[in-house]
Amino acid sequence: MLPGSIQRATLFDPWIRIRTVQNTPSISATNLNHFYGSGELRKQVLFANNLTVYPGEIIIMTGPSGSGKTTLLTLIGALRRVDDGKLAVLGQSLHGASASQLVQFRRQVGFIFQAHNLFESLTATQNVRMSLELTRPNSSMRENTKAAKEMLDQVGLSNRTGHKPKQLSGGQKQRVAIARGLVHNPKLVLADEPTAALDEQSGRTVVELLQRLATGNQSTIVIVTHDNRILDVADRIITLVDGEIRSDALVKEAAIITQMLAKCSIFEKVTPRTLTRVADEMTIQSLPPNMQIIRENDPGDRFFLIREGSVVVKRGQPEVEVVRLQAGDFFGEMALLTGQPRNASVYTLEETLLCSLSKASFQSAIAESASLETEIREAYFERK
Ligand code: CMP
Repeated sequence: MLPGSIQRATLFDPWIRIRTVQNTPSISATNLNHFYGSGELRKQVLFANNLTVYPGEIIIMTGPSGSGKTTLLTLIGALRRVDDGKLAVLGQSLHGASASQLVQFRRQVGFIFQAHNLFESLTATQNVRMSLELTRPNSSMRENTKAAKEMLDQVGLSNRTGHKPKQLSGGQKQRVAIARGLVHNPKLVLADEPTAALDEQSGRTVVELLQRLATGNQSTIVIVTHDNRILDVADRIITLVDGEIRSDALVKEAAIITQMLAKCSIFEKVTPRTLTRVADEMTIQSLPPNMQIIRENDPGDRFFLIREGSVVVKRGQPEVEVVRLQAGDFFGEMALLTGQPRNASVYTLEETLLCSLSKASFQSAIAESASLETEIREAYFERK
């Protein structure tokens, strides 16, 4: 019997099914380069950057000044043209987009930049309301005023709504800019040092607002900051060094996966260097319980390592449980080693984090072992 939550139609290609349960990224940068100047003065500031961010994620970007953080942020917000490489944000590819597509795109983004760019002649409420007038042209002035005042209240400025920028302190202006950036519930917020001018308490309030937007509205938040008081809100911290992204989280994750691979009998004879490469080539996916990962008799296309959670291996018709595997265990190697169809079906037992590797990468890693023959024989011996 198939687990109730799985439908036959979706079983045909389990891997496609796995991919569809994942969200589409809100930011996807591939091989992104950027240059300033031209001719002999042309200087490269971003080097072959890749970045994938999902809805609801809060990303903190740090790095020394001049490392390219602000350039990257302004590229993501379409405030700068993509020179070279691919960049898709909120489903819009920014490379090669028309001017009007870019204008349309920018309206969906909440910008909070250091230079506050507030209109001196407008009050706090009017400054915040402007953002709504651009994004919700059909709402009435009264609705927009109400929403602007509520937002100012949330950043602690309910008693400053009628003040103009020159009557406000630096921190208060910053909070107006934040209110303006968030009032239209944008799906993407790009913030450059949003808390730098704020005291501890106001900084926390702002960070909590951003967190609420990320969880409640599934917004993606990218914050450039040196303020280590707010690092704890980040799902991921990305460090830019000399125009290149170094992601702490990913570096750490790759090290854990390499260690797990090193403990797998099948990779016993593979050098640590290759294992590091293999870990880099793995894709990680989170799967719900009762999801079929492998179907018996299908051709083999991927190798799997359980990062967290557990799976059950079943065989035959009706299916009979063969074994349960847990974190650190691997499966799906047999078909790749022998060229035979999958010898069993595999299902998740709980929410499971799975790392997987393409057939080609798996085979190239294994080919490095002393003898492929021995490998296959041992694998058969262990698993039969
Ligand atoms: P493969 O044949 O590629 O796909 C099904 C997988 O289930 C198989 O590789 C093994 O990884 C796993 N499997 C099958 N039988 C056993 C077993 N007895 N013990 C552990 N794993 C198994």
